[in-house]
Amino acid sequence: MYLVNMLYVSRTDPSFNPDDIAQILESSARNNARRGITGILAFNSSYFLQCLEGSRSAVNSAYHAILNDKRHHSPVLLAYHEIHQRQFPQWAMGYIGENLFSQEILLRYSNSSEFKPYELSGQSAAGLLVELASHVPTLSSVPHLKTVSN
Ligand SMILES: Cc1cc2nc3c(=O)[nH]c(=O)nc-3n(C[C@H](O)[C@H](O)[C@H](O)COP(=O)(O)O)c2cc1C
Repeated sequence: MYLVNMLYVSRTDPSFNPDDIAQILESSARNNARRGITGILAFNSSYFLQCLEGSRSAVNSAYHAILNDKRHHSPVLLAYHEIHQRQFPQWAMGYIGENLFSQEILLRYSNSSEFKPYELSGQSAAGLLVELASHVPTLSSVPHLKTVSN
């Protein structure tokens, strides 16, 4: 089955507890590895920006589960397309915390140095994630994908 890449943005629910992020990353890494999904999640206290890549059926079913999650709301799909190779093969779910947000990189992809992902085009959001991801220390990230099935 060929590969797709999708990007969406959402807002944290007011009930969101900062400790929830560890639980989200843990279940993402576990489920995504099983589904052959890779990707990355950027998060600050207000917004999520996530890229998922894998087979079309796997990415779609993951996105359906994610949409039903009460820890966030107002999701907007920024991009969805077929790809011939993955951008983030090293992570079942990589993580970019706010401490890794660089004002210079944010400014390169948007009209402000703040993280305002709803204002990004799909292309800019993808570029921003790739560049921020290049500063993620490998050891602090979720264990990388060992087997890819589906
Ligand atoms: C912003 C956000 C991103 C998420 N990303 C993923 C993901 O990539 N993969 C995944 O399986 N679950 C993800 N989740 C969690 C799912 O919504 C859901 O809680 C989880 O799949 C349940 O799995 P479990 O029953 O195995 O814990 C995400 C949740 C949020 C709020």
